[in-house]
Amino acid sequence: MDMARTHDSAEAAELLATGGRLRRLADDLVVDLDRARRPLRHAMPSGLNLGAFDHDAVSLAHAASAATGPDHVDFQIWWGVDRARYWRQLLDGEGPCGPVLHEPSRLVRETDGAIAAAVLVSEMLPTAWWAGGPWIPEIFVVAKFQGRGGGGLLLEHALGACARAGDKRLGLTVSQGNPARRLYERFGFRPFRSTWFIERP
Ligand SMILES: CC(C)(COP(=O)(O)OP(=O)(O)OC[C@H]1O[C@@H](n2cnc3c(N)ncnc32)[C@H](O)[C@@H]1OP(=O)(O)O)[C@@H](O)C(=O)NCCC(=O)NCCS
Repeated sequence: MDMARTHDSAEAAELLATGGRLRRLADDLVVDLDRARRPLRHAMPSGLNLGAFDHDAVSLAHAASAATGPDHVDFQIWWGVDRARYWRQLLDGEGPCGPVLHEPSRLVRETDGAIAAAVLVSEMLPTAWWAGGPWIPEIFVVAKFQGRGGGGLLLEHALGACARAGDKRLGLTVSQGNPARRLYERFGFRPFRSTWFIERP
């Protein structure tokens, strides 16, 4: 098996018609910061503290796994991935997402120090499909705190900090089927590109 990746719906249809198996369909979304909506008043669940990021990649990997359990649409994409290494690379600004932007990024801990949530914002360099500027490679809230306004608050913080820094847009990727998309759309994010990941026999 090898994995094909395409942004072309006709090519995806052809691959699927010839025995390919869809592993993931993901959309890149963008919000224009001068037109972003602030839909609700979000709040962090009580007892959680917002702070700056540190370099605790192992704890971040554990917490992010706890946010994307077996019921999550992205559960399978992490199979075989060394998540602590992935986080170390993100925090070090290595790889395609670029250096971390510290002001819009936030790490949330419980009073005992356990990681409860995070939003990481990076300065993605310009590419053929992205004009450059802030990108959210990771946003999560651990399962026990989901649905209580924390993710919305982190998004609100990231949007506000990027707007204050003079950025024009903010992007992220979301898999189709992830309910997080509803939250993003409420802030005014809209899709501009899709990626099909197809396993070929
Ligand atoms: C997406 C996520 C960060 C949102 O944080 P949250 O604190 O649960 O969200 P809030 O309480 O601020 O807002 C609730 C909205 O978030 C969305 N949402 C996504 N996943 C959710 C979940 N598991 N539980 C509740 N709401 C969720 C929904 O749109 C929901 O509102 P709705 O039910 O009225 O449509 C969080 O649910 C999470 O970590 N999910 C797993 C990891 C993930 O998918 N990250 C995003 C990758 S692109």
